[in-house]
Amino acid sequence: MNISIIGSGYVGLVTGACLAELGNKVICVDCDQKRISCLKKGIVPIYEPGLEELIATNVKKKRLKFSTSIKEAVAGSEIIFIAVGTPPLSNGEADLTGIENVARNIARDMSGYRLIVEKSTVPVETGKWVHRTIKTYIKKKVKFDVASNPEFLREGQAIHDFMHPDRIVLGVESQKARDLLVSLYSPLKAPLVITDIQSAELIKHASNSFLATKISFINAIARICDIVGADVIEVAKGLGLDKRIGRAFLDAGIGYGGFCFPKDLDAFITISDKLGYDFTLLKATREINQQQRALFLNKVKQALWIIKDKTIAILGLSFKPNTDDMRYAPSIDIIKSLQEEGAQIRAYDPQAMEKAKAQLDQVKFCKDPYEASRGCDCLLIITEWDEFKELDFSRLKKSLKRPIIIDGRNIYEPRKMQQLGFYYIGIGRGSCAKKADNKNA
Ligand code: UGA
Repeated sequence: MNISIIGSGYVGLVTGACLAELGNKVICVDCDQKRISCLKKGIVPIYEPGLEELIATNVKKKRLKFSTSIKEAVAGSEIIFIAVGTPPLSNGEADLTGIENVARNIARDMSGYRLIVEKSTVPVETGKWVHRTIKTYIKKKVKFDVASNPEFLREGQAIHDFMHPDRIVLGVESQKARDLLVSLYSPLKAPLVITDIQSAELIKHASNSFLATKISFINAIARICDIVGADVIEVAKGLGLDKRIGRAFLDAGIGYGGFCFPKDLDAFITISDKLGYDFTLLKATREINQQQRALFLNKVKQALWIIKDKTIAILGLSFKPNTDDMRYAPSIDIIKSLQEEGAQIRAYDPQAMEKAKAQLDQVKFCKDPYEASRGCDCLLIITEWDEFKELDFSRLKKSLKRPIIIDGRNIYEPRKMQQLGFYYIGIGRGSCAKKADNKNA
């Protein structure tokens, strides 16, 4: 099929490259000229494992190209995906200006039937507005459909998620739209949820909100674990083996970040408010998440007592592993708070240091974990990159001034770390904290 994707960010690029890989002819469009000229030269503006190679292969096979022209995209494609950003406004609402703009431009350039598909995460009822906008601005008397096809791609494993989805959600309003999308996705052989547009839009917000709630739930349990001396990892295991609950997204830590959960929760809470429902459950989820950073900082204070003039090593800056994405990364809040209290920061991240430099001042960015630890009063694990799981601990210990590790992602075994001579604190691993305290006393 001939397809265009308007918006060449994370979602747009992954969707475009994967649809090309499935054998379609795809044009990825973006209004950012610099981004498009980089992509034309094979430079991918984001770090996503496998994406650069997938783009290169499909460009070579002439199934994928890039353009700044919506006109060119609309002229040549029967299906047009809208994958532009929906950043948060100051009141938490999603800014839909980009979606409206694109809908108007598509309407202006349509010369025959087109299926316009919302891919961006949008509040429920956006589909109605897209339909209305296209109807208002359409120039020629041509037929069109609007559909909703939300994405469930995790950064860092987006290509895998696209190619092996748990489900594909299609919100459609006509048989033609349904047939086109079913046929487009048929090579993936995934369960299809074919429904109305509003339900599809809601599935997306509900999914992200549910996952965020699961994370805040386990983080709340972790607090109790810290108080009573239980181990949250054992609790999560026991909970997760119940098939109705599942172990995924029960990793306690410093809370969720990234450009999806925080903004989607805000948007869902705001749209619910507007619709007349006070979504207190999600408000609590958001609050617990915010408190998690403060709680982590308290653990640092408990270990160091005074933060002023201490040098602190930070391992991991991106909001999660396998991405260079720094948007809403917990590392930013944590580093800024430590700096406000007078700490010096040395940091290392395998991919995100370039992007972090734009958001953080006065941080010494280092070439590896050992350089970051040099002369530090403690080390904080902020992102659970695989390479941090297998460090040379005796080298690390020699590098640090004091062998203190505060692990915001629970990547180490407390007993092992204690045997190696570290004062080790995790999240919700109360029994270990107590043992370490006794040892230190
Ligand atoms: C999330 C969803 O998982 C995707 O399905 C969705 O498509 C995407 O948002 C989106 O809306 O575009 P993503 O933000 O890439 O994907 O990352 P996740 O793997 O979901 O992690 C989100 C945050 O939760 C990260 O900060 C992660 O560290 C944190 N997290 C995750 C935990 O703290 N504990 C867990 O058990 C799992």
